[in-house]
Amino acid sequence: MAIDAPAILGEPITFPNGMSAPNRFLKSAMTERLCTYDDNDLDARGKPTPEYVKTYEEWGKGQIGVVVLGNIPIHREGLEAKKNAIIDKTSTWDPVEAFKPVIAATKAHGSLCIGQLTHGGRQVSEDVSKHPVSSSDVQSPPLGGMTFAKPRPLTIEEINDLVDRWAYAAEVLYKAGADGAQLHGAHGYLLSQFLSSRVNKRTDDYGGPLENKSRIVFRIIDEIKKRVDTSKFILSMKLNSADFAEGGFTGDESKILCQQLEAAGLDLIELSGGTYESLAFEHKRESTKQREAYFIEFAQQVRPMLKKTVLCVTGGFRSAHAMAEAVSSGATQMIGLARPLTAEPYLCRDILAGKSQGAKPNKGTSALTTGLSIIQIGAMSTGQPIPDLSNEATCKDLEAVLMGKKSMEEIKQAKPHKEQETKAYQGDGQSRAQ
Ligand SMILES: Cc1cc2nc3c(=O)[nH]c(=O)nc-3n(C[C@H](O)[C@H](O)[C@H](O)COP(=O)(O)O)c2cc1C
Repeated sequence: MAIDAPAILGEPITFPNGMSAPNRFLKSAMTERLCTYDDNDLDARGKPTPEYVKTYEEWGKGQIGVVVLGNIPIHREGLEAKKNAIIDKTSTWDPVEAFKPVIAATKAHGSLCIGQLTHGGRQVSEDVSKHPVSSSDVQSPPLGGMTFAKPRPLTIEEINDLVDRWAYAAEVLYKAGADGAQLHGAHGYLLSQFLSSRVNKRTDDYGGPLENKSRIVFRIIDEIKKRVDTSKFILSMKLNSADFAEGGFTGDESKILCQQLEAAGLDLIELSGGTYESLAFEHKRESTKQREAYFIEFAQQVRPMLKKTVLCVTGGFRSAHAMAEAVSSGATQMIGLARPLTAEPYLCRDILAGKSQGAKPNKGTSALTTGLSIIQIGAMSTGQPIPDLSNEATCKDLEAVLMGKKSMEEIKQAKPHKEQETKAYQGDGQSRAQ
């Protein structure tokens, strides 16, 4: 029997705190790199811009049940990349007022808006910080043209400060009208640097057994709960199903942590995988089975362990059929989408209306996939046509720009018919994972 994807995916979902999303889609966090940045004036970093707001106006029209804002560092030196949005408790500008417009734009047509709070830790590139911090002093290898300085282990006072910063940022989101906060505990950023025994070599209360490695996470959750009304604010975490790196955070640890997160009152867990050392969301699958979604088999094991917390799986979903099947089989309750929504911001709306059977193909090179999506976000931010990555020639052109082999100017001159697409380029040429 044919599966009724619009009906299955269009079903509302209620979180343990009583809040509901109108359907099963979740726009996963994607770095936008559209906010202010200054190399020297730290206070001038991370302010939302009209382009940032415009991008979420578009996604806000897309009937996406939950929209997660791209990663927001809680420290203006802990950036994932230049031009990140930032909520830093030492800023002189008012972050509540600054974030209200983007949250209002996201929620304008009924989506819930959640902000993803992060710190880059050892994955802050050298051009942003020559003195990064981490759980320990284990250096991140270079990636995609970026290099990372050897990090310094955080002191206990600094860990206490970070707990306060995460909670402060969540409170800012709450006061600015957001429906929740998501801790970024995936992809090798600071919280995942604590969770990974490959990186975390501490011998104090924050290293060793899982109970210690995850201590910072639970301290942050406890502190957020003191500052917001959790009946009006979804608490979420994005977590790796595994790091896929030797000695890193394992699947077994992830399963235990999911249950502990539920016990701590988390409303939503989003499962992903990999770190800069092993970018699972770009090219790895959890098994040799050619399933569309990367981490669905892991989710199948985790789901029965969770009685209340809503589970979302992100990574690889492309066809409406596979999305609906994943929900109807009970493996996951929500479908996380990232790259398909930079190509087609209204994809969910079209699937729900029965007008689309799934995402357009993406013919870009896997290693440059992030950079290509950031170019598409740049187009959204200025209302330009979104470059079509189902077109091989377009992919080749934009990849040449990302690799520094061509300038946008050259592409424009060689192919005047692509003018609209090249105008759309706003990215910084870096291709990296988030
Ligand atoms: C342009 C881009 C930016 C991303 N930024 C983030 C981010 O800020 N936080 C995060 O947790 N994941 C980030 N990711 C990973 C996605 O949220 C998602 O986990 C991954 O792309 C797999 O989903 P997909 O196959 O639907 O693209 C990013 C991915 C892309 C392509």
